[in-house]
Parts: sequence; structure tokens; C-alpha cells
Amino acid sequence: MANNSGRFNGKVVVVTGGAMGMGQATAAAFAREGAMVAIVDVADAAAEAVVAEITNLGGSATYIRADVGTGAGAATAIEATVKAYGGLDVLFNNVGIQPAESYCNAENTPEAVWDRIMDVNVKSHFLMAKYGIPHMRARGGGVIINNASVQGLQSMPGVPPYAASKGACLSLTRQLAVEYAHERIRVLAICPGTIDTPLVRIALGRDPDTYAANLENAARAHPLGRIGQPEEIAHVVLFLASDGASFMTGEYVCVDGGMMAKGAWA
Ligand SMILES: NC(=O)c1ccc[n+]([C@@H]2O[C@H](COP(=O)([O-])OP(=O)(O)OC[C@H]3O[C@@H](n4cnc5c(N)ncnc54)[C@H](O)[C@@H]3O)[C@@H](O)[C@H]2O)c1
Repeated sequence: MANNSGRFNGKVVVVTGGAMGMGQATAAAFAREGAMVAIVDVADAAAEAVVAEITNLGGSATYIRADVGTGAGAATAIEATVKAYGGLDVLFNNVGIQPAESYCNAENTPEAVWDRIMDVNVKSHFLMAKYGIPHMRARGGGVIINNASVQGLQSMPGVPPYAASKGACLSLTRQLAVEYAHERIRVLAICPGTIDTPLVRIALGRDPDTYAANLENAARAHPLGRIGQPEEIAHVVLFLASDGASFMTGEYVCVDGGMMAKGAWA
């Protein structure tokens, strides 16, 4: 591929939720730097388009259809990756959902909504690690990066399951890091601020009349004065997955335009 630095030549990378948003940008970035990328998703057309874009540029990518919030889906995702590319080096547990019906307080949150968010946002990270770690061990090590959120660190009204899922994601990151450090498997998390993806466009545009004002508010919440782009997440994920971050594990990195640095009184 053009501009291939070769930083990930020969590496096998799995990106869950790789058809859109941050997953898409990160899958493309890994492929540009030489990785073989398995895009695990349920959005067939979008995922096929990402694979076509990567392969047309000479990169290597394959689409695996799997709902990673289920044990069978996660197992399929890992098995199909190993079958396609012979192993596993990097797992980007990117997938996460925040459906419209989840924006309410605890007493109005349907149990099924809580369960689905937990399944996709946290259990999938556990399941992908569970099935992926044996293959990393076989390669002598690996890297797992979990996509959490600033919402795992601070909170707001109307997001009980999403907030809880992101806190759990950070806790799982620390636990896995401690458990597998001796096997040279590093485990890290990122905490994005607001990033311009389909998920955020849906969240900000729940009421189309207030979309522009919501976008402006979201931008203002970040000291850098704008929301982030998916490519700005991809740069950080690739760094964390690279040998440049070889002494990092059990840590999270905020990629939030300074949002978490700002006090509520500021
Ligand atoms: N966008 C933001 O501002 C923001 C901020 C902080 C954290 N996050 C987190 O970043 C991650 C990526 O978010 P995004 O905004 O790029 O999301 P997105 O909705 O734009 O893309 C998510 C992708 O995941 C796929 N997906 C959903 N459920 C799936 C399942 N069960 N199995 C397989 N694939 C599935 C979707 O089809 C889609 O391709 C999520 O974990 C999200 O919670 C997002």
C-alpha cells in the first residue's frame, strides 16, 4: 500500500466494529502499515466496502461477520481470523453501542437494553480476549486495546448502562494486563472524547432541529474547541499496539482534546 511504513508487516490484527467510525479508520491505518486485518462486524455492506478500499490499495483485509456480544460470535471471529491469517498479534476491542433507547435514567432503562449494552460493550471485550489470548500466547505475546470512553471516568445524566459498561471496560483492562503481563501480552485502553462517527451523529441528531447546537456544544466541551476525527484515534491505537509502547500495559490514554483535564468549574 502507498506510504506503508512496514511497522506492522506480518502482524495479524482483529478490529471489532471495524466497518464504521473509529474501527474503520483504525483498520485502514493498520493495513496501510502492513498488517493483515480482520474486520469483525455485522454491517455487511459497510464492512465489504472497507475491505474493498483496503485491498484496492494493495493492503490485506478480510470481513468476518460475527456478533461479538455472543460467545459463539466471538469464537467464530477469532477462529476465522486464525484460519485466514495463521495467528493473532493485535486485538482492537473497539466495538460499542449506545442505542437511542438507552438515553434515560436507571428506573426507565429496560433490562434488555442494559443487558445488550453490557454484552456488546464489555462482554465482547472479555470474550474476544478469552478466545484470542491462546493464539497470542502461541506467537510469544500480543497486544489488546479496549475502546472505553471518557464516560468511564466522569459521568452525566441519562446514560446508566453505557457509563457502567465503560467503567467495566477500564477495570477489565487493568485485570487482564496484570494477569497476562508475564506472557508478554500488553493490555491497554483508550478513552476517546466526542469523535465524529455514525454513533455520535445519531446521538447528537436524535432531534434534527438541535443537531447543529448539539455539535457546537460538544465542540465547546473540548478545550481544543472541536470534536475529534476517527483517524486521530487510529494514530493512538497504532502507537499503543507498536513496539514504541513496549513498556505500557494496564493503562488508559485519553484522546479527548483535553476534556478530562478541564474542571467542571472552569
Ligand atoms: N464516537 C464517540 O464519540 C465515542 C466516544 C467515546 C467512546 N466511543 C466508543 O468507541 C467505540 C467505537 O465507536 P464509534 O463511534 O466508532 O461507533 P460506530 O457506531 O460509528 O461504529 C461501531 C461499529 O460496530 C459495529 N457493531 C455494533 N454492534 C456489533 C456487534 N454486536 N458485533 C460486531 N460489530 C458490531 C457496527 O456495525 C459499527 O460498524 C465504541 O466502543 C464506543 O462506545 C465512541
